Amino acid sequence: MDLYTPIFTRASTRKFDPSPLPADTLSQLEDFISQVKPLLPDVKLEHRIVSGNDVKGMALPKAPHFLLISGREHPLRNTAAGFLYQHAELWLYAHGYATRWLGGVKPKQTDPNHIIGMAFGKPTEPAVRKPEDFKRKPLSEIARGTDSRLEAARLAPSGMNGQPWYYIADGNKIHVCYKPSLGGLLGKMYNLTDLDVGISLCHLAVAGEHEGKSFRFTVNKTDFPAPPAGFVYVGTVE
Ligand SMILES: Cc1cc2nc3c(=O)[nH]c(=O)nc-3n(C[C@H](O)[C@H](O)[C@H](O)COP(=O)(O)O)c2cc1C
Repeated sequence: MDLYTPIFTRASTRKFDPSPLPADTLSQLEDFISQVKPLLPDVKLEHRIVSGNDVKGMALPKAPHFLLISGREHPLRNTAAGFLYQHAELWLYAHGYATRWLGGVKPKQTDPNHIIGMAFGKPTEPAVRKPEDFKRKPLSEIARGTDSRLEAARLAPSGMNGQPWYYIADGNKIHVCYKPSLGGLLGKMYNLTDLDVGISLCHLAVAGEHEGKSFRFTVNKTDFPAPPAGFVYVGTVE
């Protein structure tokens, strides 16, 4: 499955064809998700695929399916969720479907472990674009040092398009940092920047796989470079 190409072409959509995807496609998606190597094996995540009748939230797109993601408390729960389910997002684009992550969607039946959701289905207009049409920060603002995988990480989607990640490439290691708050009004409206960095890490992992590079994520307690002001260290990719 080529998850790499959609990194450079995908675009979130709000315009979905309301007809459900074939049952076979949904079961292939489930199989795919179950086979993704998690960021951290000790983070327990779950998901359900439901229809619009089972979700609530402001200004939700009229999509045939919603992926509802939940997990038990863990300091890196949200980052691991972004990492795992961004693979599902890329899988959907690779199959000609489209998505929109939704920070504001919730299950109708309260779930204390709910994290986030994602609308998906067939787009009514093509959800593709050229790399130059992505609205993203330049590489110089999100990284220091060079590594060919950083371009894929740069293009990742994020809530409010906040792009709250910072990478420090150091030989064959990449240290990963994120901004706990977007600051100002955005910071009051949105608090899933730890999940965003997991999404970007998924792109980094997929780009690495494309290039034949290994991906091992570890959290070092002492040995990491100082992050830029406003950022905190998350972990290191080796
Ligand atoms: C974690 C996350 C939460 C998001 N929440 C919402 C949301 O609640 N409503 C919405 O319309 N878009 C939401 N988005 C979509 C972003 O606004 C979009 O990904 C970003 O602007 C970049 O655009 P792109 O996905 O087309 O590259 C979310 C995206 C992410 C990654």
